[in-house]
Amino acid sequence: VELNWNPEMVEKQGYTHYMLKEIYEQPRAVAAAIEPHVNPEFFSVALKNIGFGQSVQKLEELDSKADWEKTKEVLKNIDRVFIIACGTSNYAGMVGKYLIEQLAKVPVEVDIASEFRYRNPVIPPKSLVMTISQSGETADTLAAIRMAKEMGATTLSICNVRNSTIDREADGHLYMNSGPEIGVASTKAFTSTMAVLNCFAIGFARLRGTMDEATEKELVKSLLAVPSQMEGVLAYDKYFEEAASKLKLFRGFLYMGRGSSFPIAMEGALKLKELAYMHAEGYAAGEMKHGPLALIDERMAIVMVAPTDHLYEKTISNLEEARARGGKVISIGTGDNEKLRAISEHYLAIPKAHWTTNSILTVIPLQLMSYHLACNLGYDVDQPRNLAKSVTVE
Ligand code: AGP
Repeated sequence: VELNWNPEMVEKQGYTHYMLKEIYEQPRAVAAAIEPHVNPEFFSVALKNIGFGQSVQKLEELDSKADWEKTKEVLKNIDRVFIIACGTSNYAGMVGKYLIEQLAKVPVEVDIASEFRYRNPVIPPKSLVMTISQSGETADTLAAIRMAKEMGATTLSICNVRNSTIDREADGHLYMNSGPEIGVASTKAFTSTMAVLNCFAIGFARLRGTMDEATEKELVKSLLAVPSQMEGVLAYDKYFEEAASKLKLFRGFLYMGRGSSFPIAMEGALKLKELAYMHAEGYAAGEMKHGPLALIDERMAIVMVAPTDHLYEKTISNLEEARARGGKVISIGTGDNEKLRAISEHYLAIPKAHWTTNSILTVIPLQLMSYHLACNLGYDVDQPRNLAKSVTVE
């Protein structure tokens, strides 16, 4: 039998595109992101080998117990966090804000790196400046971490490429552990980052005494359940392969969400822009009355990220306002939500999860929707026009 193993197909392990392969790798990538930091027997967090003050080369040799004690000493002295990143990584940082503020009760400021580096930021003495960068080479994020260090801040990098420039220059090191991400549109690095931010926020909350042991167990159990929950949501791959030819007829997409679903709305809109070259914007659902409502008619798709959490009822009333103006609704909700299903052209369900992990699940249907729209439109999914995987120039 003549096996035409072209090397690319082998690398893509039979998937049509690297991006689709990486979407399907997400359950394993999230499990790999969590694994170093959680104890599945005691459902506890101990951040592993962050190595504040150590060089990247030394991390593997560190005694994990001693390093966790050192990390606790460093973080005990932190009373403010800045999260600096670009693009999709910035949206992961926005989710991190909700996690760290709600769990560790420390104020978090999230900033786009290209703004942070030029706005003469005020960085108080006991600040932690956290950068998020899949490549670890993004010029604006690198400039931001250098500026933060010059201003005396403690820095912590979350990246996917060990020994990258940003990783080497940071004081402390966390990793997405999701394996090489080839598709320009980031997917598994994004969900892995949110998993790592969960671990960080729980560990930080416990050392600050703002979280009891029972809550830690509950949150770690939720986190450990995510990889298998993700497997179920990946089934929407087939759904969007069918729905794409209808969805591409919309003249625009307005993605909305509240709380930690707001960054997912932003990320969903970015995915559609960078893959299907269609107009899309992400908005805080509560902002609709302050302008975007005027955009809505029957040719505008409303994508509402509405998992069952403390903001669900408010999100539903926003959705009904949009629908009353003729907007066609695509919604993402928890379980078999009859109310959402009844008012949506397309309803995508995620499994019941804690609010801290909902965002890792709600983004998957949005990744798949953008992927299939790009395929249906015949665009280059892995290498969209005008974009680079790592923006190493300003
Ligand atoms: C996301 O799909 C894009 N590829 C882009 O926004 C990316 O997230 C951004 O350029 C930041 O890259 P980094 O995470 O490597 O720093």
